[in-house]
This record gives sequence, structure tokens and C-alpha cells, in this order.
Amino acid sequence: MTPVFTLNGAETTLDCAPDTPLVTVLRETLCLTGTKLGCGIGRCGACMVLLDGAAVNACLLMAWQVTGREVVTIEGLRARPAAAPILAALAEANAFQCGYCAPGVVVTLAGLLTARPDAGDDDVLRALEGNLCRCTGYASILRGARAAAARLRAAA
Ligand code: FES
Ligand code: FES
Repeated sequence: MTPVFTLNGAETTLDCAPDTPLVTVLRETLCLTGTKLGCGIGRCGACMVLLDGAAVNACLLMAWQVTGREVVTIEGLRARPAAAPILAALAEANAFQCGYCAPGVVVTLAGLLTARPDAGDDDVLRALEGNLCRCTGYASILRGARAAAARLRAAA
């Protein structure tokens, strides 16, 4: 089976074993290294991508599972309307230090706030439960995430 899917708006055909993890395909075959590999077992959220609009762990998705579906990585997210307010709010909050967790956090927030621009603090906290950060202690990330949600609510 040759997986064919939409990646960042372009039809993409993969030449790999169907059980290759999507994160490996993105980083090693397609050179989309914005998607990070952390734990590799669905715990850290560094590998988040949007799958048909929902944030999912690319380390848990096999290549065959994206057949016919739409994947958006952090590289493709910039073309989305929700991206600019989220990136601006996180930057103003000095949300990140090393930045390794940043793509996953941004993708998670984009998935939540695109589907639910009215998401409140509790929704933001719940959505980010799967995104680990080893640097910041989370306060700055949550401050930026809340500000991003507030901006998108105001614009909705
Ligand atoms: S690398 Fe996928 S959740 Fe950690
Ligand atoms: S800023 Fe370093 S892991 Fe989050």
C-alpha cells in the first residue's frame, strides 16, 4: 500500500513501509524537522501535527493511517488564520526557553482554538495536558496560551 495524503496543502505520496511512524516520515524522508521527536510513545507532545484539523501524536500514527487524510505540520500552520495570534501571544509571554516543545504546543493550541474559538482557560489547560516542557515550569506557556485564546475569542 502506498500512502497518499495531503500534507500542508499538497498531495503527497509516500515511498515507505506502511508501518513507518509518521514522525519519522516527516523528519527523515520529507525533512520537515519542525515536528520534534521526544519520547516516541505518545507522552510528551513534541511530535504534534494536525490530522483533519485535530492535534495528534505523529509518533503514534503509522504512515498507512494518514491515507486520504489531511496532515498539517508546524511548517504548514503558518498559512492558517489561527497561527499568527497564537505565535504572537506565545512570543509576547516569553513562553519558551529551549523551544523544543514549542511546535507541539503551537499545533495543539491551533487545533483547539480553530475548532473552538470560544475555548476557555479550562479547555486550554485540558488541551495542553499532553504537551510536556522541561524548561519553563509551564507558567509562561499557559500565560501565552490564555492570551492566544483571548485574542481568538475577541476576533471571532
Ligand atoms: S514524541 Fe510523540 S508524544 Fe513524544
Ligand atoms: S521550552 Fe524547552 S522543553 Fe519547553
